[in-house]
Amino acid sequence: MSAVTPFRLGVLGSGRGSNFVAIADAIAAGKIPAEISLVLSDVETAGILVEARSRQLAARYIAPGKFRTRLEDGIEQEYVATLRDAGANFIVLAGFMRVLKDPFLRAFPDRIVNIHPSLLPAFPGLAAWQQALDYGVKITGCTVHFVTAGVDTGAIIGQQSVAVLDTDTAATLHARIQAAEHELYPRCLAALARDEITRIGRRVVPRTSSVN
Ligand code: GRF
Repeated sequence: MSAVTPFRLGVLGSGRGSNFVAIADAIAAGKIPAEISLVLSDVETAGILVEARSRQLAARYIAPGKFRTRLEDGIEQEYVATLRDAGANFIVLAGFMRVLKDPFLRAFPDRIVNIHPSLLPAFPGLAAWQQALDYGVKITGCTVHFVTAGVDTGAIIGQQSVAVLDTDTAATLHARIQAAEHELYPRCLAALARDEITRIGRRVVPRTSSVN
């Protein structure tokens, strides 16, 4: 029997929810030993809420307040309280377009993860696939990482590469990166939920390895 507290996920997203769908499907298929406690969005019409409700999962919109890139302070506390009330003990950012601040980060220490559409530390921030095209890299990809106060700077849990084709447009490259995300995110969450990996400094490694 495992001594690990079962993962009860709070999933935050602002958009379509395709990563959420990949994660929910992987859980339903028994590939991630976790359950989804709540899906929260700062966008009332977000696809992620529709997808959650169509799976009979709890889904809520909480208006983000007056700022564009973060939650208003009191509202960030409301997000935390709502997630706790729902029983969430691990937070999955799946296209949540706001930076989380200290009160939220402190509420779930080392238990918030995000997916970013580039091979970090290259191309943090918005539209990373467009940044990759503009820079002219031949390989890009996606990264699952722990969330810290910096933008896209937390310890890296997993990465998957995607070749940039000469014929790529922003749309075709973004679509291939998203397909890679849908494999990578469930795989990383499964490893975390099974307690197979641990963080040593910035390095996230299998529990069995020794890192010098
Ligand atoms: C993903 O491409 C992810 O990398 C970024 O936001 C996007 C969310 O897409 N953080 P979706 O809502 O999961 O379809």
